[in-house]
Amino acid sequence: MLRIVLLSARRIWAPRDCTLELPRWGPDRPAWRTRRGVRVALVLLVLLVIVPLALRASWSPRLREKAWAVFGAPADLPPLYEAYHDHELDVSRLAGDPPGAKYLYFDSHVRGVGWGNAMQELLLHSYLAYRAGRTFVWYNYTWSDDGSKWSYYKGKPIPSRIPLSALINGPIVGGPVFTDANAPAPVSIAQDHFNDICPESARKTIKNDDVMALLGHESTAGSLVEKWAEVLSTVDAKCVQVPRDSWAVFDIWCAPRSRPHRACS
Ligand SMILES: *[C@@H]1O[C@H](CO)[C@@H](O)[C@H](O)[C@H]1NC(C)=O
Repeated sequence: MLRIVLLSARRIWAPRDCTLELPRWGPDRPAWRTRRGVRVALVLLVLLVIVPLALRASWSPRLREKAWAVFGAPADLPPLYEAYHDHELDVSRLAGDPPGAKYLYFDSHVRGVGWGNAMQELLLHSYLAYRAGRTFVWYNYTWSDDGSKWSYYKGKPIPSRIPLSALINGPIVGGPVFTDANAPAPVSIAQDHFNDICPESARKTIKNDDVMALLGHESTAGSLVEKWAEVLSTVDAKCVQVPRDSWAVFDIWCAPRSRPHRACS
């Protein structure tokens, strides 16, 4: 690359042959329209626009992983727990889609935050589903869902997604509920199975924004759970989704930033 730049620089600035140039007819052209001006502009375009764009594209995680497939991946990549993903789908398919089952999926779940924050939200999500008498749809612990397999955090590769069953056990990830015979059945299914039995077009979406508006006053996690359970008790739809662009139901940051009401206790 550097050589190309130097070569073209030499071409542009090297003294020209001393051929006689006849004066052109008409007014002088502005400097940038001379041949040399055009070449300089082209080199600048390459340097300032095309090179940065090409570099940026090569930094996209998916392209990076395509390059790894050709040139070899780094040796220190962490595992992706594929067997756990497969197991989650198997367990969920076994649960099937029994008549009368109603599902609740929170697509608004956090991404790109530490496990402690994600788990806190996860527990509350699953509790809310349980309180609403709906099958909880569990998702991946997600650093990024940009399609990459690995992301980088502080210079180290991490899995972009980790199956929850690699981290926890119990009713949130399909385990039995021993303490409540009336718990929804199945108590939970994996999101990939939910995608199969609840196509996007069949999902009713409810935003936390609207539930908060019904509440009409400053919320706590407790008052929100009650309100959500009340709202959901009137919803017949089999497949309910809290969409990604909804306000978080249980805001893990709990600081008065841009949102008027938040559940912080
Ligand atoms: C969870 O992550 C796995 C591995 O990346 C992926 O195959 C699966 O589709 C993800 N599930 C969802 C619902 O995004």
